[in-house]
Amino acid sequence: MLHNDKLEQWDRENFFHPSTHLAEFARGNVPQRVITGGSGCHIEDRDGNRMLDAFAGLYCVNVGYGRPEIAEAIAVQAKELAYYHSYVGHGTEASITLAKMVLDRAPDHMSKVYFGMSGSDANETNIKLIWYYNNILGRPKKKKIISRWRGYHGSGLMTGSLTGLELFHKKFDLPLEQVLHTQAPYYFRRDDLGQSEAEFVAHCVAELEEMIHREGADTIAAFIGEPVLGTGGIVPPPAGYWPAIQAVLDKHDILLIADEVVTGFGRLGTMFGSDHYGMRPDLITIAKGLTSAYAPLSGSIVSEKMWAVLEKGTDENGPIGHGWTYSAHPIGAAAGVANLELIDKLGLIENAGTVGAYLNAEMHAALGDHPHVGDIRGEGMICAVEFVADKDDRTFYDAGDKIGPQISAKLFEQNSVIARAMPQGDILGFAPPFCMTREEVDQVVAATAQAVKSVLG
Ligand SMILES: Cc1ncc(COP(=O)(O)O)c(C=O)c1O
Repeated sequence: MLHNDKLEQWDRENFFHPSTHLAEFARGNVPQRVITGGSGCHIEDRDGNRMLDAFAGLYCVNVGYGRPEIAEAIAVQAKELAYYHSYVGHGTEASITLAKMVLDRAPDHMSKVYFGMSGSDANETNIKLIWYYNNILGRPKKKKIISRWRGYHGSGLMTGSLTGLELFHKKFDLPLEQVLHTQAPYYFRRDDLGQSEAEFVAHCVAELEEMIHREGADTIAAFIGEPVLGTGGIVPPPAGYWPAIQAVLDKHDILLIADEVVTGFGRLGTMFGSDHYGMRPDLITIAKGLTSAYAPLSGSIVSEKMWAVLEKGTDENGPIGHGWTYSAHPIGAAAGVANLELIDKLGLIENAGTVGAYLNAEMHAALGDHPHVGDIRGEGMICAVEFVADKDDRTFYDAGDKIGPQISAKLFEQNSVIARAMPQGDILGFAPPFCMTREEVDQVVAATAQAVKSVLG
């Protein structure tokens, strides 16, 4: 492609970048990066710089960059039929095949999949389905949704409300009133440092029980959670957390949404996080790993129990009043089919499990003893390193010191390795493509140790 000297200027003048400091960008204080290519775990920018992407884009390019099989499937679909809608019983070979492939991989009690475009819209769909479900069952008061502080479920009106991070609420008049937030299962950040993991789980459960009691179980429709907290800090739950939460939800007839946008299709070394942690969800949210982000596609997987009520609802009220023009878009569906086939063919979930365990072990070996590394945690191909001012009494740095962003910037500057400074806390996140090799893990870990040393000594 011809080098366009005006591109940076056009970018600043015309492009509204998400999750960006708009004023600093306009002033030229946010680096502009125009990415032009990618292969395996590497991406390349328009100046020819090659970077090792240890966050797989936004933990979504699970099969790695530059897979011709998926590109080919998209091209074939675009030539044959770029678009037809899926309303009123219409579909395409790709969307029907993908629905079957998703259900073949989902837990046994799941029944159907509705396809959207993004994780956010899939969670919006989920909430609508839950409200509809309770209306059909004659429980019009049972509508509130419990989410967790630090949960991330998108940035729409409802999903931004479910998200438990201040940045996504502040000045947007969120959260909406139907949303309640409870304790995150974040053992490292527990208030009472004397608590054991088991005591902390009991504390999370007691807080949930108390909230249900206070609000009334007849007003609470559902609980939403990521099997492993993602954007809120990459935090696997303490042992026994999900079975204990599930028992409370079952007792009070509260539905569970497992938001598997990050964990679905292999990130933890298993097909779904729900299998991994013994959750029994009524809805599962999928997106990123469904197509490895080669095309936008998401989904809401609906359980048999909910499906029966949705069918009853349409018998009573006519067709379901929900749908997007681009629901089950054939290009996304074709990408999804090729992606899931490739994951099976290359054994990428197994690789995520074994190489991910290696990544976590090597990160511990390199940084576990560092005086400012408070916690290293992960599961499968996801890992986080959390920094503290004082390890003995777990004192955190001031947010204004921006230790996490400084380390991530250093990592990039010194070794062209991309890791994500998570938005709340000094936490460096790693979520590489599943095809990462042990040699690439070695590079990531060595570069991280060097960046930590440069910033913290
Ligand atoms: C767990 C989870 N749910 C939902 C979303 C929202 O997905 P999207 O950005 O595609 O709207 C994300 C995005 O990172 C996510 O991590």
